[in-house]
Amino acid sequence: MQISPSILSADFANLQAELEAIRTADWAHVDVMDAHFVPNLTIGLPVVQALLDVSPVPIDCHLMIEDPDRWAPPYAEAGAQSVTFHVEAAQHPQRLARQLRSLGARAGMALKPATPWEPYEELLSELDMVLVMTVEPGFAGQDFMTDQMPKVRAVRESVRRYGGEVWIQVDGGVSADTIGRCADAGADVFVAGSAVYGAPEAAEAIDELRALVAGHEHA
Ligand code: DX5
Ligand code: ZN
Repeated sequence: MQISPSILSADFANLQAELEAIRTADWAHVDVMDAHFVPNLTIGLPVVQALLDVSPVPIDCHLMIEDPDRWAPPYAEAGAQSVTFHVEAAQHPQRLARQLRSLGARAGMALKPATPWEPYEELLSELDMVLVMTVEPGFAGQDFMTDQMPKVRAVRESVRRYGGEVWIQVDGGVSADTIGRCADAGADVFVAGSAVYGAPEAAEAIDELRALVAGHEHA
């Protein structure tokens, strides 16, 4: 069970300190948005490179961008430990996942709320993580979509049948109120933006989220 706080809700003028504040987390989730795939613009490769130099935890890049076939591999080359692209934007998801792995990153594939899982089940062996979005990607602080839990269950069932080790991440509206539902459905990596950086103490929020999912193990 892993916690990946999203720095989208952090103070962008003090990112190094904001990474230090989550040093007890498993990952730092970095949302890259290009104002085309989603209607918002955040940061790109130069900032991610700078974060990689100072982060006390590995970087979990969530690329909400067009043409990831072209733009995702440089994040892996830069040393990002996990790189997740959106399947809706990828031309050749299998080739891209292989390339990310060959560059030394964990390969993740994300699904927007309206994107079904079943057509992509056969890609499991190419992936280290499947990200099931629990909000429409683009902004922090949105309401959690419980209606995505059947998709998380379906991915968990596919992973069980496949038998390999593929993590299942949920992202969007994950908080103390909703994290239990995600764990029950089969998620094992939990992204939380406002629930961590909006709390008085990020470290305490991380501890609380961890405690809520302790004991739910999905092998
Ligand atoms: C949304 C991003 C999320 C977002 C989560 O497009 O992918 O990572 O930062 O923020 P919260 O936890 O506030 O929903
Ligand atoms: Zn994200």
